[in-house]
Amino acid sequence: MVKSAVLVSGGGTNLQAIIDANLFGEIVNFELSAVISSKPDAYANERARYAGVPVYVVDRAVFPNRSSFTKAILDKLRDLEIELVIYAGFNYILDSQLIKAYENKIINIHPSLIPSFCGPGYYGLRVHEAVLSYGAKVTGATAHFATEAADDGPIILQKAVPVREGDTAESLQRRVMEEAEWKLLPEAISLFCAGRLQVDGRIVTIRSC
Ligand code: GRF
Repeated sequence: MVKSAVLVSGGGTNLQAIIDANLFGEIVNFELSAVISSKPDAYANERARYAGVPVYVVDRAVFPNRSSFTKAILDKLRDLEIELVIYAGFNYILDSQLIKAYENKIINIHPSLIPSFCGPGYYGLRVHEAVLSYGAKVTGATAHFATEAADDGPIILQKAVPVREGDTAESLQRRVMEEAEWKLLPEAISLFCAGRLQVDGRIVTIRSC
């Protein structure tokens, strides 16, 4: 089993998708060992507790800088002997300490079709606001390996979602979550845990079973 930790900062709907998929046996060879939260009062923490998953709060507000915050998270991951890290609505970029220790072993979900509408400043509702103001007709979500740069690592899976007449940022976010994020993240994790992801530079190849 691949000992895994999910990093969260907010509502935890992507964490919930992982918990539910795991419950229904849709993620092979996966052990959800811990949730690490950057916020003491994030609702994601309640979702984890309700599912019986240990929650560790590493409160971003108590660390003076990114480096000390990253080290605290890395120390916890090592204590727990974590092999796979998942960013699920995690609002921070962690520095090279973590990225080097977990190269191509950190999976992130981003609510757009990378390389569109991604990078610094593109998170949460802002992504969908940018899609609507640009007049894009199709958006979606991307599961990718995380690097030190925002939304920049090798792409694992993507799924397109239509923009509909009259969409608000909220209605579009909901559709992208329901139709793309909540499906892609568990699928990407399962492929990783099954040893089916091969990474060559930027290119991820999904090996057959
Ligand atoms: C969502 O916009 C999601 O696309 C992004 O983070 C936000 C909150 O996700 N990854 P969650 O509900 O906390 O999982």
